[in-house]
Amino acid sequence: MNFDTVIQSGTVVTAADTVVADVGIKGGRIVALGTDLPPTGAKVVNAEGKYVFPGAIDVHTHLDMPFGGTTTADDFESGTTAAACGGTTSIVDFAIQYRGDELRKGLDTWHGKADGKAAIDYAFHMICTDLPIARLRDMDKLVDSGVTSFKLFMAYPGVFMVDDATIFRAMLQTKENGGMICMHCENGGVIDVLVQRALAKGETAPKYHALTRPMTAEAEATRRAIALAEMAGVPLYVVHLSAGDAMEEIRKARQRGVPAFAETCPQYLFLSYEDYERPGFEGAKYVMSPPLRPRGNEQRLWEGLANNALQVVSTDHCSFCMKVHGKGSMGKELGRNDFSKIPNGAPGIETRVHLLYDGGVRPGRLTLNRFVDVIATTPAKLFGLYPRKGTVAVGSDADLVIFDPKKRHVISAESHHMRVDYNPYEGREITGRVEQVFLRGEQIVTDARFTGKAGHGTFLKRAPSGQAALGLTAG
Ligand code: URP
Ligand code: ZN
Ligand code: ZN
Repeated sequence: MNFDTVIQSGTVVTAADTVVADVGIKGGRIVALGTDLPPTGAKVVNAEGKYVFPGAIDVHTHLDMPFGGTTTADDFESGTTAAACGGTTSIVDFAIQYRGDELRKGLDTWHGKADGKAAIDYAFHMICTDLPIARLRDMDKLVDSGVTSFKLFMAYPGVFMVDDATIFRAMLQTKENGGMICMHCENGGVIDVLVQRALAKGETAPKYHALTRPMTAEAEATRRAIALAEMAGVPLYVVHLSAGDAMEEIRKARQRGVPAFAETCPQYLFLSYEDYERPGFEGAKYVMSPPLRPRGNEQRLWEGLANNALQVVSTDHCSFCMKVHGKGSMGKELGRNDFSKIPNGAPGIETRVHLLYDGGVRPGRLTLNRFVDVIATTPAKLFGLYPRKGTVAVGSDADLVIFDPKKRHVISAESHHMRVDYNPYEGREITGRVEQVFLRGEQIVTDARFTGKAGHGTFLKRAPSGQAALGLTAG
């Protein structure tokens, strides 16, 4: 067989295996895996001594999102360019249905933001904020359009938060249409009371964002979300889980056979509450929800990732500049005198794979195969993209990363591709580097430089997420 490209002699890593092999690519797909594939007429890429793993999948991003009185700094062009440089070849971003609008309007708006701009493949979840009974059927239509997961919020009263009855109705509908419920688990009512009390006492600094969002508020909401999902009989995916006690709720649910899943994010593994105590207004860089937790908590999350209490590492990339950014939108400065006005979110779409390899695989917290599992394979399986995405196999899209495990670099806002004026991991030295990235057989990163094109990404119509998830409940 003639190939378009042959990646020779790399160490191919999947969630299950590690083998030295050649990868033959034709027509954007992997068509052969073996030794000594004939390279006649093909572009040949030597990967000896390097890892070849599936393009990573980030199932939690917010690009071009209006939030907190402003708009995120990264749009679909800058965000996906940065993602590619960090080894991510597909994202699942959150489209938003605003109050009074049809779900379809939210989806059309997000297509308008992404189509023709994204440099990597993309799909959408739908954030639902307004679900009267008459609109529930519209969730089914979204599933038919390939948008097969719905995010609901138990926090942000007055913005995104919905009550338990709405959550329960949405869950019952989602059980029928085969989708999945993604839940932001924090008790928004309790947090709101704590925030008002803090402000009344003049406690306005960024650290009060964390001090008014206790870990118990996350654990309680996680427990409640699981109970509601259990009563509805629908799979549940808890997003951006930060606290060890919340993770225990997931573990207990899974032990009794409930299809409950959770992701954590690098910020909860590598940063901590202590970052809020940086001098001046620096702590604002770390204002996100749930907040960073006290040092020591991250150890529980690492263990949970290793033993499958947690299944995914995504980013919750939601970037705001410290100052006004390029498009004139305000940044974190909005909350200089009131922590509750600091736009919630932090950048991370570019750094996830590097951080997780350097801080997870190298010190032995995660095996190489588990690393691939949590950044690519399980996200693909849970969100209806597998086996097209998320693995290195004959028939899968040729979304591949060639990774040099020895190459070092330093994370910095000076060199990153995200359109944001700081990096939460500034100065951190990383061993291991994404060198070449292929998206459907096209090389989009070459020697760690972006060589792809805006608009090359395609919309991914996903299979029903909840049905896919049900096959994954064991363990
Ligand atoms: O602080 C965060 N997480 N911002 C993004 C919105 C969300 O809740 O995911
Ligand atoms: Zn959230
Ligand atoms: Zn988010």
